Amino acid sequence: MTTPESVQPASAVEHWRSMVEAERAQSARVSDRAAGGPAQRWSQGRAEAFRADPHRDGDHDVELISRFVGADRTLLDVGAGAGRIALPLALRCEEVIAVEAAPSMATILKEEAAKAEISNVTLIEGRWQDVEPPSADVVLCWNVLNYVEDIGAFMKKVDAHARERVLVVLHEVSPMAQVYPFWRRVHGGEPARSPGLAELLAVLWELDIHPDLQMLPPRPRILQSREAAREQMRGRLGVAPGSPEDARLEEALDELLEERSGSLTVRGASVVREGLLTWRPGTRSGAA
Ligand SMILES: C[S@@+](CC[C@H](N)C(=O)[O-])C[C@H]1O[C@@H](n2cnc3c(N)ncnc32)[C@H](O)[C@@H]1O
Repeated sequence: MTTPESVQPASAVEHWRSMVEAERAQSARVSDRAAGGPAQRWSQGRAEAFRADPHRDGDHDVELISRFVGADRTLLDVGAGAGRIALPLALRCEEVIAVEAAPSMATILKEEAAKAEISNVTLIEGRWQDVEPPSADVVLCWNVLNYVEDIGAFMKKVDAHARERVLVVLHEVSPMAQVYPFWRRVHGGEPARSPGLAELLAVLWELDIHPDLQMLPPRPRILQSREAAREQMRGRLGVAPGSPEDARLEEALDELLEERSGSLTVRGASVVREGLLTWRPGTRSGAA
């Protein structure tokens, strides 16, 4: 007979952890890289895709974050990557502190900062969980949380380091959603999904944090070429060239890649939806 304890739903924090662990265990079965932390997940090649000119104009994401960070304010960017947001924001605000765990990403951030002669960025290399950065007016965390196991402690630390506002962007479903149709054909079975926006909202509510949610414009996922798609999927799925899995990947590319208005997309998985969660730090149980 079922006892009341056994039907108790797991807490949102525990549910998040179980999703991250299931995804990690499944990925580890097919790829050493995916089993590791950020430093293993972000190869030099993958990091290069995040390199961007800090002086670029008309970038939707930069404009969005700029609205929350005044010229006399400081920004702490947790999981800053190659500085896609941190560097253009440094050109517009007082100071940026960038925390980044993957050396490949940190190297690009340093190179781009030097090239653009940006001197008001302090880079702290390491995992957010392990470093002790100063607080800032605004704390940003854009697409960083999918593989974080202890999400409760991570978010409490984010909240504690913000004086005015926390900004978190996350996918509605995993950024790997584009890979799932390939996973099914190459490895068989269902891919384990890493947590997304719905799971994060449940975690924040459990922490008594009640953010506003703004959905960002959906972005089409464009692949540059069939060769680029093959390389990306080999990396993401842990497929060795010439293996039986590689032959199945080739068939999947035939079946799933479709050309629309001159660009390549994955059939049925071509749109990425992200949401921006914002809140005032330290506000609990209905405070403003
Ligand atoms: C998808 S990239 C996004 C980078 C950047 N926020 C952006 O939007 O361009 C995720 C980044 O978060 C970093 N990251 C993941 N977990 C982290 C952690 N626990 N502490 C610090 N950085 C982390 C990864 O190394 C990677 O550079």
